[in-house]
Amino acid sequence: MAFDPTALAQSWPAPKDPRPIVTFGAGSIVGDAHFPAYRKAGFPVAGLYDPDCEKVEKLAAEWGVKAFASVEEAAAVEGAVFDLATPPARHVDVLRVLPDGAAALIQKPMGSDLDGATEILTVCRQKNLRAAVNFQLRFAPMMLALKDAIAKRYLGEVVDFDAWLALATPWQLWPFLKGLPRIEIAMHSIHYLDLIRQVLGDPKGVYAKTLGHPNHDVAQTRTSAILDYGEKVRCALSVNHDHDFGRRYQACEFRICGTKGAAYLKLGVNLDYPRGEPDILEIHPDGGEGWVNVPLEGAWFPDAFAGRMANLQRFASGEDADLVSSVEDAWNTMALVEAAYRSSAAPATSLEKRP
Ligand SMILES: NC(=O)c1ccc[n+]([C@@H]2O[C@H](COP(=O)([O-])OP(=O)(O)OC[C@H]3O[C@@H](n4cnc5c(N)ncnc54)[C@H](O)[C@@H]3O)[C@@H](O)[C@H]2O)c1
Repeated sequence: MAFDPTALAQSWPAPKDPRPIVTFGAGSIVGDAHFPAYRKAGFPVAGLYDPDCEKVEKLAAEWGVKAFASVEEAAAVEGAVFDLATPPARHVDVLRVLPDGAAALIQKPMGSDLDGATEILTVCRQKNLRAAVNFQLRFAPMMLALKDAIAKRYLGEVVDFDAWLALATPWQLWPFLKGLPRIEIAMHSIHYLDLIRQVLGDPKGVYAKTLGHPNHDVAQTRTSAILDYGEKVRCALSVNHDHDFGRRYQACEFRICGTKGAAYLKLGVNLDYPRGEPDILEIHPDGGEGWVNVPLEGAWFPDAFAGRMANLQRFASGEDADLVSSVEDAWNTMALVEAAYRSSAAPATSLEKRP
């Protein structure tokens, strides 16, 4: 099949009759991505709640939505889809007050650690919530196109996945991270681990080392990890958030190779967060002449957030049969994160002493 880059899917179908969205949390991600995406997609926002009255009033006024006075008032909106943009350790408190059977989207990570994820999963099961985790990288236009290209066999069989990051991440933008014991993998590389799980499935295990940097006190900002997929598939992540030496040699990119073709992606948002640079997807398709640019119709921020919400809305109305990154599936991403921290804490294979 001749490769047509413009024929690759890049967006999620819209729900026919979107329900009102009620957002919990009036922090930076809501103004940077949730609300811009929902406005662009035409999804109605009923309002938002945050215990910080000043923040909630300000954001509500900026976006012309209602500021709810309590969690209970927000949770009482009839037929709403609940959108949690709360700190990881607070998600479960909000889930507990939602009506049984409600549709909910929970920001990543799914709790602070695997015990937190299990608690969230248990509450979602008890209350029959139709709940998904906001692993929205899966819905970025570049990633939807990549997965379509893989499904259409333009790469042959995927045998190699390399993620390479050398950048300067402004951790100070997220006050809730201050003092937390788990940062890099749990908050950032979790998006890549989740996306890799969607493309390659669950690995057999992981070797990882994650560490901080002598220039600051963020718990970890650098990670090397190898995901073990056996003898045919190699998967590695090299992540350095302390490459603060100007833009020239910074990078945030994936190289995905198949037996017959390959893909290159640049994840632009992280290179100038949250303003971002344009994303890039190029494909070297099976039977083609070389690298072909895929013209992208949007970026990770904010478009992926619209696709993520569209799937949940469509699942809630019966238009989609599958809920992508349901809490059941997302728990496995949290298990991979947990295994990476366990691996990092364990000693590596030691060297023999010279006789
Ligand atoms: N790409 C992404 O997916 C992405 C990017 C950034 C942040 N996040 C996630 O989004 C969440 C919020 O991040 P942020 O950067 O906006 O943080 P933030 O610290 O700017 O905002 C968090 C807000 O949640 C509020 N809050 C605390 N408890 C609450 C409760 N019970 N109900 C309602 N609000 C409550 C806080 O008062 C605060 O205003 C985090 O879980 C973070 O991991 C995801």
